[in-house]
Amino acid sequence: MCGIVGYKGKPVRVKDILDTLKMLEYRGYDSAGLAYSRDGILELRKVEGKIEKLYGLVDDSFTDLVIAHTRWATHGIPNDINAHPHVVGTLAVVHNGIIENYREIKNYLNGYQFKSETDSEVIVHLVNYFYKDNLFDSILASVKFLKGAFAFVLMDTKSGDLVAVKMESPIVIGLIDGGYIVSSDIPSIIKWTRRIITLENGDIFYISSGDFKIFNFIENRFVRRNIEIISWDLGIAEKSGYKHFMLKEINEQGKVIRDTIAGRIEKNEIILDEEVRNYLDSTDIRNIVYIACGTSYHAGLVGVYYSLELAGLNSHAVHASEYRYIDKSRVSLDDTLFVFISQSGETADTLSVARELKGMKAKILAIPNVIGSSMYREFLSFPTRAGVEIGVAATKTFTAQLINLLLLNLYLAKKKNIQIDGLVHEILTIHEFVDSILESYDQILELAQEYSDYQHFMYLGRHLMYPIALEGALKLKEISYIHAEAYPAGEMKHGPIALIDNKMPTFYLYPYNRLVNKNLSNIQEIKARKGKVIALVDKKTKEIAKDIVDRMIEIRYVNEYLQPILAVIPLQLFAYYIADWKGFNVDQPRNLAKSVTVE
Ligand code: G6P
Repeated sequence: MCGIVGYKGKPVRVKDILDTLKMLEYRGYDSAGLAYSRDGILELRKVEGKIEKLYGLVDDSFTDLVIAHTRWATHGIPNDINAHPHVVGTLAVVHNGIIENYREIKNYLNGYQFKSETDSEVIVHLVNYFYKDNLFDSILASVKFLKGAFAFVLMDTKSGDLVAVKMESPIVIGLIDGGYIVSSDIPSIIKWTRRIITLENGDIFYISSGDFKIFNFIENRFVRRNIEIISWDLGIAEKSGYKHFMLKEINEQGKVIRDTIAGRIEKNEIILDEEVRNYLDSTDIRNIVYIACGTSYHAGLVGVYYSLELAGLNSHAVHASEYRYIDKSRVSLDDTLFVFISQSGETADTLSVARELKGMKAKILAIPNVIGSSMYREFLSFPTRAGVEIGVAATKTFTAQLINLLLLNLYLAKKKNIQIDGLVHEILTIHEFVDSILESYDQILELAQEYSDYQHFMYLGRHLMYPIALEGALKLKEISYIHAEAYPAGEMKHGPIALIDNKMPTFYLYPYNRLVNKNLSNIQEIKARKGKVIALVDKKTKEIAKDIVDRMIEIRYVNEYLQPILAVIPLQLFAYYIADWKGFNVDQPRNLAKSVTVE
């Protein structure tokens, strides 16, 4: 994973490069480092921990050649030795990805002294091994050895050259006045330039004395790449008075819903975006498969219920990391729409399946949030409009994904002349009820403080509340480091019920729906085993639950297809307040990263 930056050009402050690197912190933040040329001498700084610590290790000096890295450990624990850059002589490298055959390369380079436990260090040793007097030739010889996903930037203080290589992991080049800035993503370099080249697999971008050339080592020839002028703007990434980005983002959900719907519903009719509408109108669809990871996968599970019940389509959701290795040669593609959901639009597993299916001419629709991401650029996209999400735990983007999935399925229902009364009108007003939950946050704060010492939680729900139970449990695990299990409530009797006692409270998602009595029986079963129950209720179930459960959180009674949107918000707040109460870094929880660009 990791974020990488490189710069060659007119002298800039080393700290300016750290500012750019900071924008890639969402890709990992367990250690960081940079190497730069000080009058041709290689200076190296590496730290365990966040980029913030690096600022203290660089002075106000200027440089014309620099590379920098923020890490999410794959091989070797986070410490300052395993932090990048890795250096041999005048060469230094930063890497994003995994060199899968690093052990073979180490054997091949028998006798070389490796300082770190990383796979990445082999790159710089290999280049050094082949380096006689031409860096470009040695890069070319080296990349042919590397297997896996890699984007790396290498600098040489002897020649003053900078090179960026791309294979699967993303890398973009910004063309600036008198130089080049290289990065893992576009948003981090928009401040420098809007003239961008996106490298393709196999590209070696080589900058020597002010000029560049691109050689593709797969095609074995020099290539030209388009210079794209980026017109979109970044959203504002400020906390605006909130203690954490996550809390701000939770609070933005009413607005996110309004933005995501805007222009996609007209006169109570779903119209979607023109290109998406045209595509769906001309495509036969009988099956929908949702493919995603993490929170986006949970959105996909909600999508399954929408597709089955609203659009009358066969549907299932799969984890991209699993589906990636399914033999698809016998999968029927004819009337199946594959929907890829990804906040970042960069998740390696999700992108890889999407690209494979595209190669098989499957019907694909992407739901990314980040405009300009790989997914957005490579596939027909129906983007969510949640704006920039900084907190690592996804919140507002999940809500936006639910809205998009609902709109998509209602459109597909309309296409089949399925009449669904009233729902579209309710979508238009749901944001008001989201805002009203957020106004009564103090109840959830109190609840979180009361329950913060429990080590284990169970989250249960049926039907559309099952994916929301999964999402609630995931939020608690991610930021509060509390063990949480989530199950479809009907499965409780097949095992999880053995865990229930007075030390494992259950968050039971109990808004009124067709399963009101089945749910009540499950709640009673928990109570009969001395389990504490926090019930998420609405005005209809409140009356039923009030004498049975221990605590209640109330949301508005709405159409059951809209319940996921309201139900997830108290769960996000509950996880947030517990994590904050415990003093954890809510926005950057340990071991996680916002965008997972390795397998
Ligand atoms: C990481 C993040 C999760 C996210 C998942 C999928 O694990 O920490 O919050 O849900 O990736 O990311 P995507 O960008 O594809 O939605």
